[in-house]
Amino acid sequence: MRIATVIGNRPQFIKHALLSKRLRQEHDEVIIHTGQHYDDEMSDSFFRELDIPQPDVKLGVGSGLPFWQVGEMVREVGSWLNAVRPRPDLVLVHGDTHSSLAGALAARLLKTPVAHVEAGARCDDRSVPEEINRILIDHMSELLFCPTAKSGHNITNEGIEVDRVYFTGDVLYDTYLHYSSRTPTAVKGYIFVTIHREANTNDVDNLSSIMVAIERLTCEKPVVFPTHPRTRKMIGASMAPQRMMPPMSYLDTLAHIKGADLIITDSGGVQREAYFAGVPCIYIGTAGWPELFACGASKQVRADAEEILETAKMNWRPDFNKDRLFGKGDAVEKIARAIKEWEEHKRG
Ligand code: UD1
Repeated sequence: MRIATVIGNRPQFIKHALLSKRLRQEHDEVIIHTGQHYDDEMSDSFFRELDIPQPDVKLGVGSGLPFWQVGEMVREVGSWLNAVRPRPDLVLVHGDTHSSLAGALAARLLKTPVAHVEAGARCDDRSVPEEINRILIDHMSELLFCPTAKSGHNITNEGIEVDRVYFTGDVLYDTYLHYSSRTPTAVKGYIFVTIHREANTNDVDNLSSIMVAIERLTCEKPVVFPTHPRTRKMIGASMAPQRMMPPMSYLDTLAHIKGADLIITDSGGVQREAYFAGVPCIYIGTAGWPELFACGASKQVRADAEEILETAKMNWRPDFNKDRLFGKGDAVEKIARAIKEWEEHKRG
């Protein structure tokens, strides 16, 4: 069967590293890179580091206003899917980014079935652009691969037929287990921070509150702060450049997560990796995983300096072994098997 995978952002490259290799054992897979992320440190470096098959198609769409970016990506992905022979039997997308929305929509408009990895995630805040993407992608998908039990309930409660929904666990956990032993050892005794979300970077008050908290925390402990290009641009000259560092590779990020005393982030990926590593995590904003707030692994705060600093004083440790919310580390295998069964069923 021919599978076209549409990816375009740093987290999707990481999530697709193992799945691509597994799918290629049985299928003809093509990777379409939308170009939403394009700097070497946000894109190509991950293909090299994780030995991901090079994209077959590079659309080079780049940055822009969301309606323009999504529109361009739909047009480009759709044109490619429409022209290529043999036509893909399935289009696969990961997560909730604009690239994933565009890939799913282009496929759907061409009546090509969509498989959604990380289906059913909800943060219950529709002001988060990714939440809208999640809902739209799920409702356009034929195969929905859920990372947690709650994500499965979320979508069946929204009326999606249960026979399209699979609880597979989280491919990010598979990736974490696979690469964990290869990470360099980081020095301990620091706070690891990542901030990139629109709500925290494009709102000046939110961003300056977060920066105040980081500056004050730096007086107590070293802060390691690899900085997303958007965040770097928005911070501008207001923070000493030595406080920021370029985005990190995946293996360096894992090493720093595992060695951290505390993680402060607005990334759902880093929030999960903190949980896998048993490191306490403060999540800034509303877009995070409710599962991790409910079990106490992460603490949710607003972009408010005092709230961040007060929470940082609390002493807690996630108990990963108690809940194991994101499956057993066999999500890649379960997804590959479900796709195979679906193919056989379609053939009759
Ligand atoms: C996107 C995803 C987000 C994901 C994140 C991972 C959407 C709606 N958001 O957010 O869910 O968590 O990726 O990083 O799809 N930029 C560069 N170089 C790059 C890429 C981006 O300089 O290689 C700058 C540009 O100024 C761009 C800005 O970062 O406008 C934001 O990039 P974009 O891809 O729109 O959103 P992210 O914040 O990365």
